[in-house]
Amino acid sequence: MVPDECPPDYELIGLLGQGSYGLVYKALHRPSAQIRALKRLPPQELISFTREVDSLSHIHSPFIVRCLDRCQTKEWLWLAIEYCAAGSLNDIMQATGTCFMEKEIAAILENTVQALKALHDSKRVHRDVKAGNLLLDQEGRVKLGDFGNKESKVSQGRRRYNRKQAGFGGQTKPIFRKKAKETKKDHAAAALVQSGKSTIFAWKGESLEEYWEMTLNTIKKDKNTFRKLTADLKGISEETTTGVHRLNQLDKQGRLFFPAINVNDSVTKSKFDNLYGCKHSLLDGLNRAVDVLVSGKKCLVFGYGDVGKGCCKALDGAGAVVYVAEIDPICALQACMEGFQVVRKESVLDKIDIFITATGNRDIIMACDMKMKNNAVVCNIGHFDNEVDLAGLTGNPAIKRQNIKPQVDRFVFSHGRGIILLAEGRLMNLGCATGHPSFVMSNSFTNQVLAQIELWVKRDSGKYENKLYKLPKHLDEKVARLHLPALGA
Ligand code: NAI
Repeated sequence: MVPDECPPDYELIGLLGQGSYGLVYKALHRPSAQIRALKRLPPQELISFTREVDSLSHIHSPFIVRCLDRCQTKEWLWLAIEYCAAGSLNDIMQATGTCFMEKEIAAILENTVQALKALHDSKRVHRDVKAGNLLLDQEGRVKLGDFGNKESKVSQGRRRYNRKQAGFGGQTKPIFRKKAKETKKDHAAAALVQSGKSTIFAWKGESLEEYWEMTLNTIKKDKNTFRKLTADLKGISEETTTGVHRLNQLDKQGRLFFPAINVNDSVTKSKFDNLYGCKHSLLDGLNRAVDVLVSGKKCLVFGYGDVGKGCCKALDGAGAVVYVAEIDPICALQACMEGFQVVRKESVLDKIDIFITATGNRDIIMACDMKMKNNAVVCNIGHFDNEVDLAGLTGNPAIKRQNIKPQVDRFVFSHGRGIILLAEGRLMNLGCATGHPSFVMSNSFTNQVLAQIELWVKRDSGKYENKLYKLPKHLDEKVARLHLPALGA
């Protein structure tokens, strides 16, 4: 519902989503000094606060469901974040399937839809946008945030804001600080934020623009920040394959300003995280995103390095017919020896059901390669976002995009067939699932910690020059030794 008149102290700038004002309601009735202070905050500050609280809403969702009806009549309804437009519950039901929704959630959604519609009809809004979990895109399609996920019943809608959208002008710096803490669904990151010990400058679904905004936030927009930092740095440790490649280049060019330890190539990192981590999280990502039966499917894995080996092993274990495309003859031979069919992609494009890139290289599957089976799944578990040619798909007006659900898009070609792309070509095990399990990450991070201690303790010993080193073998072994008891060994 939309109230007829704005309360005297507030300016209408949009509607809060159902999750948010549910939480504001809760917050305002919490007997803590912080919350009492909230009541005295100017509306804009309160809005930033609610965004922050909202990021934890999945924890409180049963409560929100109970209190929503009551709080809709509160004046806080007027504390609005976003402009919104109309949509119908039927559209939402159709797009997402009703089977996931509980009755009460559906009722709340309907309320929100009605509110959006009323606001839209009042012609006080001029942009498409969203409220809570509901998003109305420019073409008038209603989409849902993360509904359908049973563990988060309410208010999993991801929020993307920028100052202009929020109508705050340039001076409301807290918006960004607090927005940065919105982590949605990344429980580890949310727990860090909740503990008050860390600030997270990222959230799921951030745009490229927001990514850079956050990056600049972390270095306080000073272009000399990195240069200044190097003066105090005693060394760095790096655990990603890609990051180590970059450090290697700098090392070869004599451009390292400090010693660096490559922990990616510790046995307890790349032969564990890349291999066993991806072996676990590839299937987790596939299941959560599309839940197709892997058994009997033809899968093509690009790259038979550590990540590729883990992926092949998992697919093989799940009963898939596994093909490998690999440019390194030794890795290709290893794939053959494991019983996988080594092929060129061109020869199997029309046969494969699931394509997985794991090369760390770029331009592995291009838009022009996508003469694939209808609904072939395409995903990347290798390097950031450029193994799969997303730009080629989105930049071609003849290719139509259908958003199936968050992190899952179908691209339909002029010939009528479509492919299903996961996580917009970014790392699918992070985008569609929750990345690696903690045990494997513990191995990786222990490498990091031991590397940092080593660099610090030996900082004045002359052992480390401004070069790239591997973690000493005895420390790699220590990582393993520390983890053995956890497995009962
Ligand atoms: P790697 O260097 O061991 O293996 C990559 C393999 O891809 C190599 O054998 C290489 O010959 C092959 N390759 C390169 N270009 C190719 C092409 N055009 N066609 C076919 N094969 C090609 O690297 P690793 O450790 O397997 O990592 C691969 C990527 O995965 C890296 O970018 C790394 O950062 C990333 N990674 C992702 C993780 C995740 O959780 N998603 C975890 C660990 C690593």
